[in-house]
Amino acid sequence: MIPQETIAKIFDSADIVDVINDFVNLKKSGSNFKGLSPFSNEKTPSFMVSPAKGIFKDFSSGKGGNVVTFLMEHDQLNYPEALKWLARKYNIEIIEEELTDDQLAANNAREGLYLAQQYANDFFKDQLYNTDEGKSIGLSYFKSRGYLESIQKEFELGYSPLQIDALHSKAIKEGYAVENLEKAGLVKKSEKGWYDFYRGRVIFPIHNITGRIIGFGGRTLRTDKKVAKYFNSPESEIYNKSKVLYGMYQAKSSIIKEDCCFLVEGYTDVISMHKANVKNVVASSGTSLTEGQIRLIKRFTNNIVILYDGDAAGINASFRGIDLVLKEGLAVRVVVFPENEDPDSYSNKISTSDFKLYLQENQQDFIAFKAEQLLKKTNNDPVKTAETIKDIVSSISIIPDPISRSIFIKSTSQTFDIDEQMLIQEVNKKLKKVPGSSYPPVYQENFKTTLPAKTYEKGAKHKLDIQEKDLIRLMLNYGSLSIPLEIKAENGETSEEQYPLAQFIIEEMLTDNLLYKNDIYQNIFNEFVDGLENGLLINDQHFIQNPNLTSIVVDLTTSENTLSENWEKKHQIQTKTEPLRLKQAAIESVFIYKLRVTENLILEKQNQLKGLSNNKDSDIKLAEINELMKVRNIFADELGIIITQ
Ligand code: CTP
Ligand code: MN
Repeated sequence: MIPQETIAKIFDSADIVDVINDFVNLKKSGSNFKGLSPFSNEKTPSFMVSPAKGIFKDFSSGKGGNVVTFLMEHDQLNYPEALKWLARKYNIEIIEEELTDDQLAANNAREGLYLAQQYANDFFKDQLYNTDEGKSIGLSYFKSRGYLESIQKEFELGYSPLQIDALHSKAIKEGYAVENLEKAGLVKKSEKGWYDFYRGRVIFPIHNITGRIIGFGGRTLRTDKKVAKYFNSPESEIYNKSKVLYGMYQAKSSIIKEDCCFLVEGYTDVISMHKANVKNVVASSGTSLTEGQIRLIKRFTNNIVILYDGDAAGINASFRGIDLVLKEGLAVRVVVFPENEDPDSYSNKISTSDFKLYLQENQQDFIAFKAEQLLKKTNNDPVKTAETIKDIVSSISIIPDPISRSIFIKSTSQTFDIDEQMLIQEVNKKLKKVPGSSYPPVYQENFKTTLPAKTYEKGAKHKLDIQEKDLIRLMLNYGSLSIPLEIKAENGETSEEQYPLAQFIIEEMLTDNLLYKNDIYQNIFNEFVDGLENGLLINDQHFIQNPNLTSIVVDLTTSENTLSENWEKKHQIQTKTEPLRLKQAAIESVFIYKLRVTENLILEKQNQLKGLSNNKDSDIKLAEINELMKVRNIFADELGIIITQ
């Protein structure tokens, strides 16, 4: 258990913008920050962070909360894991209170895997720098590739010695949990006994976006073709290969700064480019891009530049993957290296400034590039040319943005010398076939939300959830604002008094002994009551650190047009003008709620009446019902509500 004071300290130190910026490219927008949702695949930013309130709200997925719940959602951490992550970031020491064995086991499954990777990497680094073998084999290899110490350290490179079970025997000696090393694919068992998976290899650790090691690539230093050049970690609870890009942790801030991401094939390409001072680079590790990886890039930039080796086979094979990138609305450009060169070799061959210049001057739009490549192969064969055009047309039609589409149509028409109108027609035909594509674009007219005449059906059982929610929403948003109320003194004189809205709602609820059906709302309400009893008007900030309530509180306190529109449609409440008519909003909310509660009570008693045989009991019940009906009608009258059958 993490002590309460430590939790408070973590919350105090954690800057939500600073933390979320590690994952999302945030831009200032008024007093808030905005970015693309990390939880969905959106094109216009609807993810909002409020540093003043210490909250985030993602309008595309509906998720919202504080800095801790963000980490929980984003990295799939549990509460203590998220707190520990922050503690590490802000150098806060956690001295844990005693845990039971069961709690420990549950908390530590994922953590154990992380720690195993870290344990192994510490070992690999120690071997690289502090042993003769490491220095003479591993370190001299890295030096021969020109990796300076700063680069080695940044990528946490290491060396796994030749001894068959060096890591395993160290773990045994130190009483370290071998099963975690095994689960992480670091040690394995054969008939002959345990062995280290990466023995005799130089080590490239793979980091997740928060900088923790989740896997390894181990390169052999042997030149015979029989051994695989790289050994890679298996997938695990912490390593989902389709969502990871090598180098992203080291690249992300540069990607944001440059608003561009270079994509290369492998470990050494990434590191060599860093060496050439190009840091916005990630690797797909030799496979074609997955949707998850594209989305990862898209969190930081919309511009991707793919760097190709100068061999045609690789180029053609990758076309399919790139259609996926286009579909995500990313702008794709390519750079092709001279024959037999890749980013690694070429950056070592020419000067850093020439390399950068090469990257700049040889960027080409992907579709034009694809057209050119395919055209080379047609040899003026008209059938092949027609097929090629179709292929290009299908790439163009995948691009979501109509303006980019028309630019590509124009350039393709020039490249192939084809009538532009004909290409437009072809693209349009294709577009109609793409499921879910809205072409031609359909514009919906803005419609006004006029509130329907308020009517009220008699004898229907009312769900109270919406009304309960609305009361809590008002308290959270405007609880401390004053509304003028007419107060009748004992002598009959009335005077106007300013009353905090929360107090008004609390008193109205308490005088009628009303309880919320929804426990969460009741809990929030109770906190308000507690506060008031101590002479304190609490507000939404009071709940931000409460992991059980933060999400709902954020949900009820963040307003963006989309949200208020939803509210208006769903709940017939005009939230935009609400602050200007607070008194009316509060009174309406309270009395509609009471009206519904009363109506439900009437219904209940009517049902009870049916089961009564005794005249006297029936009379009493009837009298009660009549009283309630009077009350109901008064409420309805005040609210200007028409009661219908
Ligand atoms: N790869 C792999 N397993 C292999 C070969 C390659 O996982 N047996 C992946 C690695 O991620 C590698 C990338 O494909 O980085 C590109 O392969 P390659 O160009 O052969 O390796 P480099 O990392 O460039 O290594 P080097 O420059 O030392 O040849
Ligand atoms: Mn290579």
